[in-house]
Parts: sequence; C-alpha cells; structure tokens
Amino acid sequence: MIYLDHNATTPVDPAVAERMAWFLREHFGNPSSIYPIGRKVKELMNEARERVAGSLGVDRGEIFFTGSGTESDNFAIFGTFDAAPEKNEFVTSAIEHPAVIEAAKALEKRGVKVTYLPVDEYGTVGLDDLRSALTPKTGLVSVMHANNEIGTIQPIVEIVRIAHERDVPVHTDAVQSLGKIDVDARKLGVDFLTVSAHKIYGPKGIGALYIRRGANICPFVRGGRQERGLRAGTENTAGIVGFGEAVRVLEEKGRKERFRVEKLAETLKKGVEERIPSVRFNGHPENRVKSTLNFAFPGIEAEAILLSLATKEIYVSTGSACSEESEEVSHVLQAIGLKPEIARSSIRMSLGRSNTEEDIAVVLRELPEIIKKLRAITAFHPEG
Ligand SMILES: Cc1ncc(COP(=O)(O)O)c(C=O)c1O
Repeated sequence: MIYLDHNATTPVDPAVAERMAWFLREHFGNPSSIYPIGRKVKELMNEARERVAGSLGVDRGEIFFTGSGTESDNFAIFGTFDAAPEKNEFVTSAIEHPAVIEAAKALEKRGVKVTYLPVDEYGTVGLDDLRSALTPKTGLVSVMHANNEIGTIQPIVEIVRIAHERDVPVHTDAVQSLGKIDVDARKLGVDFLTVSAHKIYGPKGIGALYIRRGANICPFVRGGRQERGLRAGTENTAGIVGFGEAVRVLEEKGRKERFRVEKLAETLKKGVEERIPSVRFNGHPENRVKSTLNFAFPGIEAEAILLSLATKEIYVSTGSACSEESEEVSHVLQAIGLKPEIARSSIRMSLGRSNTEEDIAVVLRELPEIIKKLRAITAFHPEG
C-alpha cells in the first residue's frame, strides 16, 4: 500500500502504540482521585501536557486537552463569545476547516455577524481585508495556520499584530501545521491555538487547545473540575499519554525527517508536472506546507482518479476527509477561484513518515497512465 493521505490521518507510531498499551495495562486510575493510583495517572498526564506545551513553546498550565481538533476549534470560538457576550462580530476566513466554518454558522444563527475573509489565488488571506473587517464589536479572529487541502500558510504574526492593535484576540487552527513547520504559539502571538494528535502519528480522539494565560474564555463542557474546570469530563488518559509520546517522537525525529518528506514531495510534484499534460497545481508555490500537493487534472472527475489509484493500492483524497462523502465542490478550491469543473478534477496527495522514494517512483509510473486512460475515455483535449 502507498498511503498519500497523511493530512486525513497518520498511522500511529509504533512507540505511541507501545506506550498506550503499557499505560492501559498498568494504569487505570482516575486522575481526579487523590490516592496513589490516581496521582500516578495525573503525573503521567502532566508529563504529556509538558511535552505538548514544550513543542508549542508555552507553559504546561496553558494546555487544555479536548476530544479532537474539532472540539478545540469549537471551544475557542464558543468559549470566547460566551465570555464576552457584548461582542457580536466574528472574523474568520473562507477556507477554514468545517470545524470553524460550522461554528461560525451557528454563531450567525445567534445573531453574531460573521465576516469570511476572502483569499487570493494561492489561498492567502489579505491583511487589508482583515483591517477593514475589524470593528470595536469584533470578539475574535480565527484564521488557520496551514490549510488542510492546499497547504497554504497564513501570515499569522501579521494577523495577530493587526488584531491586537484593536484588542481583538486571535485563534489559529494549527492542526495541519504541527509537525510540518515550526509552531510556536508565543512567537505567533496568538491567544488560542488548536492541535490534534492523530495528525502527528498519535491516537484519534484527542486534541488540545492552547489558551494564553489570562485570555478570556468560558468553559466549553460543563460538569466537573477536569482541565481546570474549562473542559469537564474524565480525561481520555490513554489518549493524552499517546499524544505526549507522539510529540516526543516528533521531536526525536526532528527536522531531518521533515526535510526527507519535503524532498519526496518535491520529486513527486516535479514528476507530475513533467509527465502529465495540462495539470494545474493548486496552492501557494512557496509559502505552503511542502508535503501537501493538490493538483487539478482538467477533463476528469477526481473520484475516477481516486478509484483507479485505489485499485493499485495507492490512496489519495479529494481534499478534506469531511467533504469526501458529499457531492459539494471544495469551498477551499472555490475560494481560490477555481471553476467548479476544475475543482472537481482535483486530488490531494499528502506525504508523511510512511513514504519512501520507491513509493514516489511507483506513483510517477502509475498516475500518468491512469490520467491518460481516463482522458481517452472522456475525449479530453487540452485546447478545449
Ligand atoms: C485544519 C484542520 N482542523 C481541524 C481538524 C479536525 O481535527 P480532528 O480530526 O481531530 O477533529 C482537521 C482534520 O482534518 C484539520 O485538517
């Protein structure tokens, strides 16, 4: 199998699986219990919290574990608006993950005015658009760090500077940037930052929200004192321990592994562009997560490419895992100005730790053949 869908999820690292299995076998205590077996679990959780915090350049007390990246996004958004009900304007971008877009729509139903900042052809938010969207009523700006479909990296430092000049807090969804580029919440200057373990070779169902000390936010899940009262419910202790281990492995592998994957992606990008006529690269030429490649193959439905590749045990996707089952055209590809038929011909290949040079060679052999055959069926002519 050749797995080219690391932005959807990543295989659990063997060291993570090992540590979680050990934890589940040896430690069943409730971290809220004050006797030793509870305390031990709390200690292990805090070790994990320290690791996650360290990787984001923040303090342990600023990390709050949640049930997913999606929950962290919802927490940051609803928690902020609940904490300051007099603010009734929200500024986000048109290319956010559905976790943010759907939260924004729910806010709209509550009477909050939402501005969806447009992006340019490469998927970058315009700072002037942000400036004109901010008003004294703005309660939060939420712009993702790196996009899940095309990889474009947003100018978060500048966004924070502009928002903070007006005393508006900023949230960023860093689910797709952690492990792929440097993510330092302090250097970015954000007030809230979302991460998720299963995108960094950790388990599914565990996320975290960085909340800057002193930031104004209400609890998201009520009913207990866990996570300092901001996210009640007995913690996913094994998930938290696994998250910590995933971060440890990430740091151990370091930049060397990142560069290896980036180099593979570059080879794949060049190979596709050289071997396949009329291919369009979607996304920023430079300022993007390099392991994310999104291509349009005009004349063909992406679905057909996906299925043909799957028969060769090569797994790619059409974009976000969440939109996979719907017929809708990707809102991200629409936002960068692609015509619906071009957007519908687009596939995403996201590389990661599991990929080798041999994988890339196989894809570069199979993909051009598949495209050629599919275009022959649809009688595609590049000139139209
Ligand atoms: C940018 C982004 N945000 C949030 C999420 C949701 O994370 P989770 O799967 O942990 O809910 C994803 C997952 O695809 C993502 O890509």
